[in-house]
Amino acid sequence: MRKILRRIINRVKITFLGDPKMKAITYKEFYLPTFRENQGLSDNEVYLQSAVEQINHLSEYFDFYESSSILDFGCGQGRLVNGLKLMRTQFGSYFGVDTHYKSIKWCNKWITKYGTKIKFIHLPAFNARYNRGVETLQQLPFEKNSFDLVFLNSVFSHMLTDDVLFYIEEFQAVLKANGILYVTAFVEEKVPDCEENPKNYLGESVGKLHRVRFEKQFFLNLFEENGFKVEIFAPQHISRTKQSVIIARKI
Ligand SMILES: C[S@@+](CC[C@H](N)C(=O)[O-])C[C@H]1O[C@@H](n2cnc3c(N)ncnc32)[C@H](O)[C@@H]1O
Repeated sequence: MRKILRRIINRVKITFLGDPKMKAITYKEFYLPTFRENQGLSDNEVYLQSAVEQINHLSEYFDFYESSSILDFGCGQGRLVNGLKLMRTQFGSYFGVDTHYKSIKWCNKWITKYGTKIKFIHLPAFNARYNRGVETLQQLPFEKNSFDLVFLNSVFSHMLTDDVLFYIEEFQAVLKANGILYVTAFVEEKVPDCEENPKNYLGESVGKLHRVRFEKQFFLNLFEENGFKVEIFAPQHISRTKQSVIIARKI
């Protein structure tokens, strides 16, 4: 009863005052989300630098050109684009895809103001944490061999093996030959192959798929057995979340 009442009050507030989740903070020349999913990124500068650090690391293995085509899968609120803008990184086209409707709506309202090369697509796929309103996964609505880079920050950290496999196959199809797949995930040695919210691992888990942890060899094989060569495995490279970085090349 209380829950229903709270929902009605929220709906009335949103109708008259606007949805606070759709607002943006204007910081320097950037639009940043007021509500942030990401752990430890409430400070605006830290938020931007988190993307910069990843782009710097990625740039050691991937050259960004004026023509580079980028797919940011599970893009959330466009954190990567803000990093690219801050670093004045060149690229030809950027597509952000997410199953979370409000994130894509927010990106379309704010981040697309940065230019016409940047596009966001809502792709409603089942995820027990982010979208329980649908039942199935979604194939990517892109032509084969169309991207130079597919980027996933903290997406496979909220997905079980079958779903990870489904998307690795999708990325294999949409990447160009020699294209790069950048992934962060919870990956450790001497643990079960795949475990949802493991006990005593990096603190208490809150809700479904909060932390999905994979065994290192098991996880790397998912790529190696599906058309990728793993070029880099950097354990716990993202110090804030303790996620590892995998950089794999389509073969
Ligand atoms: C922890 S957030 C990371 C957001 C963003 N990559 C960033 O670095 O700020 C995980 C994101 O993955 C998205 N996601 C999870 N499963 C997905 C799926 N099957 N298809 C598309 N997006 C998905 C969620 O909606 C969420 O926005």
